Amino acid sequence: MKFFIDTADLAEIKSLASSGLLDGVTTNPSLIAKSGRDFKEVIKEICSIVPGPVSAEVAGTEYDQIMKEAAVLRKIADNVCIKVPLTPDGLRACRHLSDDGAMVNVTLCFSAAQALLAAKSNATFISPFVGRVDDIGWDGMQLISDIVEMYQNYSFKTEVLVASVRGPLHVIEAAKMGAHVATLPPAVLRSLFNHPLTDKGLAQFLKDWQGTGQSIV
Ligand code: E4P
Repeated sequence: MKFFIDTADLAEIKSLASSGLLDGVTTNPSLIAKSGRDFKEVIKEICSIVPGPVSAEVAGTEYDQIMKEAAVLRKIADNVCIKVPLTPDGLRACRHLSDDGAMVNVTLCFSAAQALLAAKSNATFISPFVGRVDDIGWDGMQLISDIVEMYQNYSFKTEVLVASVRGPLHVIEAAKMGAHVATLPPAVLRSLFNHPLTDKGLAQFLKDWQGTGQSIV
């Protein structure tokens, strides 16, 4: 399973990139606004830090505007992945961009039917938002399970990118279902390390080691 990080915070991206765990980055207009940075500059910097796909979302909603913006974003770096909304114009742009060799992430997916349309439009990634589905009292992980099953039935190449992840259980469930990617807020990625028995065991080992009076180097 690939791990993307869902942020435009460069300090977080640098810090987590050094862990060797990052396979890509996703951003959205809200995360760019939160960063307070110029969109194109921040995407360029992220692309230079993380070699994997870096999703940069268009702001246009009509086909012509989406294509114009995508042309600008694609020039920033080879690893830019154009993020388009799951709308008729977004999917039309997805098909054309993908046929032209661009990576495309179709965002704001909330149903299996929408995911089917994205796969038929040759999306590189489909982004179902599990947390936002849970928020309205539906089952976000059931959506992932349905999409994974449906894509497997037809050997679609589109990768399932689990988005709007709120905690470690979303990640574990997604991995068990065979989702290709999860994009994680930095705090969720860090939380995957945590276990009280690891902390307790390490403290005991260090105490016992100190008692030996030895050093390795
Ligand atoms: C996905 O690409 C989105 O940026 C993101 O996962 C949205 O998550 P949120 O629901 O926490 O805003």
